[in-house]
This record gives sequence, C-alpha cells and structure tokens, in this order.
Amino acid sequence: MCGIVGYVGKKNALPILLEGIKHLEYRGYDSSGLVIGVHSNLKNTDIFFDKSVGKVSNLEAKVKKSIRPKLNKITKFNSQIGICHSRWATHGIPSEENAHPHFDCNKEIYIVHNGIIENYAVLKAELIKSGHKFSSETDSEVIAHLIEEEKKKLKGRVRIEKAVKNALQKIKGTYGLAIFDVNEPEKLIAARNFSPLLIGIGKGEYFLASDATAILKRTRKVVYLEDNDLAVLTPRGYKIVGLFKRASKRTPQIIDWNMEKMKKGEFAHFMLKEIYEQPESISDSIRGRIDYKNNKPVLGGLQLIKKDLKNIKRVIISGMGTAYYAGLLTKDYIEELAKISAVAEPASEFHHRKQIYSKDSDLFLCFSQSGETADTLSALCDAKSHGVLSLGIVNVVGSSISRTTDAGVYQHIGPEIGVASTKAFTSQVVIGALLAVLLGLEHKTLFSHEAKSILDEIKKLPLKIGKILEDSDKIKQVANNFQKYNNFLFLGRKYNFPTALEGALKLKEVSYVHAEGMSSGEMKHGPIAMIDSTFPCIMIIPKDSVYEKNISNAEEIKARSGPIIAIATEGDNTINKISNETIFIPKTLEIFTPILATVVLQLFAYHFAVARGCDVDKPRNLAKSVTVE
Ligand code: F6R
Repeated sequence: MCGIVGYVGKKNALPILLEGIKHLEYRGYDSSGLVIGVHSNLKNTDIFFDKSVGKVSNLEAKVKKSIRPKLNKITKFNSQIGICHSRWATHGIPSEENAHPHFDCNKEIYIVHNGIIENYAVLKAELIKSGHKFSSETDSEVIAHLIEEEKKKLKGRVRIEKAVKNALQKIKGTYGLAIFDVNEPEKLIAARNFSPLLIGIGKGEYFLASDATAILKRTRKVVYLEDNDLAVLTPRGYKIVGLFKRASKRTPQIIDWNMEKMKKGEFAHFMLKEIYEQPESISDSIRGRIDYKNNKPVLGGLQLIKKDLKNIKRVIISGMGTAYYAGLLTKDYIEELAKISAVAEPASEFHHRKQIYSKDSDLFLCFSQSGETADTLSALCDAKSHGVLSLGIVNVVGSSISRTTDAGVYQHIGPEIGVASTKAFTSQVVIGALLAVLLGLEHKTLFSHEAKSILDEIKKLPLKIGKILEDSDKIKQVANNFQKYNNFLFLGRKYNFPTALEGALKLKEVSYVHAEGMSSGEMKHGPIAMIDSTFPCIMIIPKDSVYEKNISNAEEIKARSGPIIAIATEGDNTINKISNETIFIPKTLEIFTPILATVVLQLFAYHFAVARGCDVDKPRNLAKSVTVE
C-alpha cells in the first residue's frame, strides 16, 4: 500500500528519500510528502517540509524549488534525518492536507504511516476535546497528536520513544510507522504492527523502508521488523525494543536481488518487461528444483515438513487477486495429480468465515508475490492459530507471509514492479504444479512416468512462452482492432476457468474497461443476455478434454452476433470458422495451457491499455501491495 522511506546519517537526506520513494511509487501514488531535519549542533536543527498531490515526480518538481536550494546552502552539518511517504488513500481524498507526513499541533512531531487506525474516530474526538487541532481527514494524523499528548503527560526531558510507546498502547489497528521529533534530531523511530517495515544497515547511516527495493541501491543488509517492534535509529546504530514485551534478537539478512531487474531497460513499461521476462523467471523458479534422473521435484523449503505432507487429507488454498487465481489452478492440480481434496477461497472472505479445520490432516497453502498482502496474512494467521500446517509460495524473501508460514517455496523471480502482476502468476502456477507432483508422489497417487511427463513439459515452458512473445505482433494487432470496445467477457473451462478470471482482471486493472471472467458453462445461465455485436468474448479454447463443449459455447455466442477472439492450440484449423480473430498458443499438456494462454492475455491487456492511452505501470486507484484489509 503506502510507501515509507526513512534516513538518518551523515549524507544529504533529500536525494536518498526521493530515490527511495520513487522505487516505492508502485505501492501508492495519489500523493506524497517528506520532512527533513538538518542537525548542525545541539541547538540548531533546520526543518524542511513539503507535500504534493499526484505522482512522486510532482513532489520532486516541487522540492526542487522549495527545499533543494535551501538545503544546498547548508554545507556543514552533523547529521540529516528524513522521512518520506507515498500515499494510497484509505481515509480522506488524495489532497495535500491528507498527504503524509502528518504533524502535531506544534509541528514538532512528524509521522508517516502505512496501515489503518481502526479506533481513530474515538481518539480524534477525545484529542479535539483536549484542544488539538487537526489539519487532515486521515486516520493517521491522530498518531502525531497522541504522541504529543503522551509527551505532555510524561513532562520534562522525556525520550520520544517512551511517548511513542505509550501512544501506541492506545491504538487499535495496523501500522508501519516512521516518526521524527525535531527535539531529538538524530533519532528516527519506527514501529510495526502488521504493515511491513525494515531497517537498512549502512556505514554510519541507517534507513527505513516499507519495501527493500527502496534502499537496495544504498545497502543490501537489512533487518525485518516484526509485529510489536519499536526501533530507534541514530547515525551511531539501531536498537529494537518491544512495544509490549522484550523484542527477540534479530540477525541482519543480505538481499541478493539484481538491480537490473529494477530498471525498465529498453521496454516502454515494467509490465511489458516483466511479461517478456517470463521464460527467464520460470527458469529461475524451477532451477535446481527438478531431479530429472529420479523424476521428482526437489523443494528444499519443504524438506523439514516433508514427512507431514504424507498425512495431509485436505489442502486449503488462499491468496488475493492474481495470486488467488494461481491458487485456484493449483487446487485443480492437487486434486488431479495427488488425488487430495482441495478448496480455494479469496483470503478476504476466508478469514471472516468460521473455518472448520482438521489440524492433523489439513494443509493451508497461500500464494503471495509481495508476501505482505494483509488479507492473505490474516487468513494464514487464522489457520496457524488453529495449529494447521502452513505453506507459502511467495516471491519476496523475508516478507511477513514468508516469515509466518511453517515452510514454503520462494519464487526467485526478482522484483515485480509493474502494478499488474504478470511474471509472479506464471511462476506461482509452475511451483503449484511442482508441489502437486510432489504430493502425488508422496501419496503414491502419481506414477513416476506421469511425473516425468509433467516435469519434462515444465522444462519446455520457457521456450514455448518465448515463441508466443516472438509472435506477439498478432496479439498487438488484435488488441488495436478491439480498442473501441468497452465490455469483454472472458470464458474458459476446467483448467482455463482461472485463466479467464485472470485475463479479465488484467484487462480491467490496466485499461479500466468492464471485463468479466467466468467459466464457459456458466455463461448461458444469465450472462449470455449481455451478448450482442458490441460485446466481444475472449474464449480460451485449446484442444483439450473440454474442447467440444467450449466449441458449443462459442457457437452460442456467434449465434447472438457476439465477436469472438479465440485463444487456440496451433494446428487447430477449424476454430477460424467460428472466431473473428484467433491467437494460437503452442501445444502443451492440458494442465499447462493456462500458463501459455495467460501470457497471451497479459499481452492483450497491455496493448489494449496502451492503445487507449492508459498508464499501465501505474493504473489509477491501484497499489502494488495491498497491506490493508
Ligand atoms: C493483479 C494484482 C493483484 C495481486 C493481489 C495479491 O494484477 O497484482 O490482484 O495479485 O493484490 O498480491 P500479492 O501476490 O502480493 O499477495
């Protein structure tokens, strides 16, 4: 959701904060702001503060005039400190007033916040009664005023961390927080409950970030904060203390992401770059994970719990959005290959319902690229609190979900920057297939020769995706031809039902047109009423076990003048008789048709959105990682 960057050290904080927040812009981009304290000696701290509505480039342009010239004049200073934020609005419209940092009545305590303060209305009313004046409509602002109030209560020479600790005892909700009190100009305070935050360790300088990508250029050594941590950072070091009890000991980790992956290179957009990265990202996800000699997957992250997998009788799968659709497909794989009953549900619903677990025979499996999605984390925590074994298929190493699950498989696809998830999906599906094969072998429901044919085909997927990418002009042409249409139905059956959902999601999030994904069979139970010559259907219709049924559905659409774009298997010479346009995918096993078809749908959504002039990397109203429920 919102992005947070903090710095304390001996360098100029402004470029460090701006560079960091630009990397986090994909987390939220409706407004941004920063505050910097330049500390020259004990009595002299200059404060620079600015906010702006819209993308971070607006803030950058503003501070170029407002802050940079003044900062440049200060050549001698002991240290600089700063906090910066890019916002994804929850409470209050995107405006300068609602942008962070927020401050107390005296403009001495500055805070940036990611999360939601659930009891803010009550707290705000009490604070107003005691004379506090608020400048925004946000829930976050109460934090600054609460800290001010606690400082007053503590009187005298009080350390800011004590006031923060007391203030946070009163708060119900989630937070990743960076706080700066001008009276203690060399201290940066951080606190976390449920919203991600990490400390970057440099030489004589320390960083705070809601996501490692913000600081990777500066340091790769990080410490992830855990729930109920409060941290104090100064140019001399950092310490983590518990908010409510003593904090556990933390060991710094080294992040080994390649910086090249964080640049667009010759591509016009990150989304396109990441679509094109898929042959490589799938190879990265399977590297070292297939024992071709013995025809079995080798998932090192599951080694410790491998014996528990034998007792599993039901797999409960969850995630959100694209990650949920990868889970939905994995459910089919597990049922088909391992003959284990599996259910899948979006995490946002899952954790509100009463779940009936069987703690000794259930496995909870969640999917998340960021590893920080609040709904997915809540569902996971629910399963864990009932003693259910939990696994995660996650990309971001050290993220909250990866640290909460009992075991898991990392995707190893490098950072996914485009807001629309692409390479994460195909990688998750491939890992889901590896897991299903592993379960099938452990449960002796899959023969070795069957495992072999699946594993051999996985190896070929990068090449087959490469072929689709090479021939993508046709997809671009179809997207351009259809750019004037404002409604789309995506249809698929069996394994390609999740593909239809994913195709529709991609299109609506980057181009804002109405798109619905559903199973082809469902269509005639109501939605067919919408079909006419202005309502195209994108049908995923490979040569598979449900081909004939899909063809019947296509005929039903054609009979009602609905234009059809078919995604079909190469060599299918009859499909053109029904479809208006056909995009072919290479032949593959039936279970892997969704991977190839999804690449086509990603490219379709991309070119369609570009043709309509949409900003595909920063679609309106979205943020990359949804850390609020
Ligand atoms: C769609 C998209 C979202 C995410 C969802 C889960 O393109 O990006 O639907 O897939 O918010 O995010 P993660 O995978 O980070 O848990």
